Amino acid sequence: MSKKSYKIAVIPGDGTGPEVIREAVKVLNAAADKEEITIEWVNYDLGGDRYLRTGEILPDGVVDELKQMDAILLGAIGHPDVPPGILERGLLLELRFQLDQYVNLRPVVLYPGVDTPLKDKSPEDIDFVVVRENTEGLYCGAGGFLRKNTPYEVAVQESVNTRMGVERCIRFAFEYAKKRNKKKKVTLCGKTNVLVYAFDLWERTFNEVAKDYPDVEADYAHVDAICMWMVKNPEWFDVIVTDNMFGDIITDLGAMIQGGMGIAAGGNINPEGVSMFEPIGGSAPKYTGKNMINPLAAICAGQMMLEHLGEESAADRVLRAVKKIVARDIKNLGAGKMGMTTSEVGDRVAEYAVQD
Ligand code: IPM
Ligand code: MN
Repeated sequence: MSKKSYKIAVIPGDGTGPEVIREAVKVLNAAADKEEITIEWVNYDLGGDRYLRTGEILPDGVVDELKQMDAILLGAIGHPDVPPGILERGLLLELRFQLDQYVNLRPVVLYPGVDTPLKDKSPEDIDFVVVRENTEGLYCGAGGFLRKNTPYEVAVQESVNTRMGVERCIRFAFEYAKKRNKKKKVTLCGKTNVLVYAFDLWERTFNEVAKDYPDVEADYAHVDAICMWMVKNPEWFDVIVTDNMFGDIITDLGAMIQGGMGIAAGGNINPEGVSMFEPIGGSAPKYTGKNMINPLAAICAGQMMLEHLGEESAADRVLRAVKKIVARDIKNLGAGKMGMTTSEVGDRVAEYAVQD
């Protein structure tokens, strides 16, 4: 049941984050207005600039405040003057972990009018979603060095997989396949031939959970083969479930076949808590402040957020508007190639979103 009034945290973040978030907020406000929904936006100044200014990444109390919100909309994290990893781990991953957003949901959908690099593939062929485990695996930071900076150095990076973490993610995938109501198929993406402990747990859990969903087809493929088929036969997929690292990799491939980072969005989901929605491309420092970046990915993240909040009609408005602009106005989704500026795209989508 939708509640019609929401408090949403906005973290514009670094680089082009603020530019694309501005357009997403514009579009969401337009759609919300039409549906008599009120959104109160609460801005959080977090990211590279704040870190360089004050040394703070995620100050005390922020996570507790975020837990009181209905959802979070995030722009981008990553600053050219901050060494790689500091902000990504200290902010983005920290939020995912602390808010226990255990699923990273990444739709790979090609809209009519959008170019895909896959010859002979069309919107009917590219329509699936990746359910990436988002709190465990290689991302948990377990491991360490031995004899660092000596010729005998050892570096260990461990993949942590818990029965509970794997099972809740796989259950989410099956529920999602049911709800999606398309091919009703879940494919486990693993590497059981080499990662004989981690993916043994995944596979056993997958097979057990699958028994609870007799109407959903359960399938398995190794991650390398998945990469091949995402290019050769993307029409085979409906829901792909996988671990954190594989999910990270295959969703960049997914973003490319759906038209690029200009349109790829994702949600960090905690079904029992606060979820966070983001465009999946980075902060694109080279385009910062140029009004050239494509805001559609951020707008699509906002669309997913509305859907998650149960605001189906408002979400539908945004989705229809995005489909309209890509069908009619912009052919190339790349930054600087749209034939429109960032704010013009936002204006146009907002305009389409209020039409009936
Ligand atoms: C993503 C990003 C992050 C990840 C980075 C920035 C830590 O690549 O959201 O896919 O690896 O999860
Ligand atoms: Mn990634």
